[in-house]
Amino acid sequence: MANPSIPRLRDLFRPLNPPIKEWTGRTVWLVGGSEGIGLALGRELIARGAQLIVSGRRQERLLEAFPEPTVCKIACDIAKPEDLEQTCATLSKQKLIPDTVFWVAGVYSPMQSWDFDPFEAEQTLRINLLACYHGLRQVLNLWQTHEQSDVPRHWVWVSSVAGYRGLPLAMAYGASKAGLNQLAEVNYLELRPRGIGVSLVLPGFVKTRLTDQNDFAMPSLLSPEEAAHFTLKGLARGDFEIHYPRRFTRLLKLLRCLPYGLYFRLVGRLRQD
Ligand SMILES: NC(=O)c1ccc[n+]([C@@H]2O[C@H](COP(=O)([O-])OP(=O)(O)OC[C@H]3O[C@@H](n4cnc5c(N)ncnc54)[C@H](OP(=O)(O)O)[C@@H]3O)[C@@H](O)[C@H]2O)c1
Repeated sequence: MANPSIPRLRDLFRPLNPPIKEWTGRTVWLVGGSEGIGLALGRELIARGAQLIVSGRRQERLLEAFPEPTVCKIACDIAKPEDLEQTCATLSKQKLIPDTVFWVAGVYSPMQSWDFDPFEAEQTLRINLLACYHGLRQVLNLWQTHEQSDVPRHWVWVSSVAGYRGLPLAMAYGASKAGLNQLAEVNYLELRPRGIGVSLVLPGFVKTRLTDQNDFAMPSLLSPEEAAHFTLKGLARGDFEIHYPRRFTRLLKLLRCLPYGLYFRLVGRLRQD
């Protein structure tokens, strides 16, 4: 008799999440939607018919990026737990309950082991990782107090391939994204059985103000619009892990499997080139 705790072969090929192919009728909270990848995602989601709630730290920038009166714009600094609490209280009061959350907000400053500011490192970890716990808690509270509509709930974490393994210049950024990758895996295991989909988005290089700081050649650089396209394509497939562009991220996934002896030598050599 088959052991019920061992997944059957055909289950391995089933999507890990309910595929999201249709955005009309969805209410999406885009955290970090005023610039870069978040902005491109927001524009595309509006075009596909989603009702959008968009947040970032600067209200005037949100108004500029999303002039449509139908878009709910909320200034919210995710590094401040009280801002997140206030935002969710406002959404609850307005009965504007997101069924899908894109957690896109993040910061990056190049940082090397021999020359860095620990306060800047702390701020990176606060925004890129610690804030995620506060945001998730607040939204789960909302979801627990408001009945679910017909639309299945879904959480999308935007992380980075920099979280796969240690890379030069990513002293704080890499650690924050490695932590986020783990958090997403735990969320999947624990929220999916409760009917909540969870996806982890791992972009390679995307041309935004974040990567404009880099002074090295960035292979397979994408536009924010391409990044948004690949993200939504992954959600339409029902993927948990959405990584792109594959010609670059597949190589990084391979490097992730190498023993340290080989990994350090290869990455060290790339850095010298
Ligand atoms: N660009 C890349 O190559 C790349 C690659 C891999 C992963 N990623 C990840 O993708 C995400 C978006 O990156 P991006 O390149 O699009 O960056 P970006 O252009 O700098 O946009 C970042 C967004 O996050 C918001 N934000 C930053 N700090 C915030 C805070 N404390 N509270 C609320 N909102 C905040 C910003 O709005 P305000 O400034 O108005 O607050 C902005 O809307 C990040 O998580 C990043 O780590 C990017």
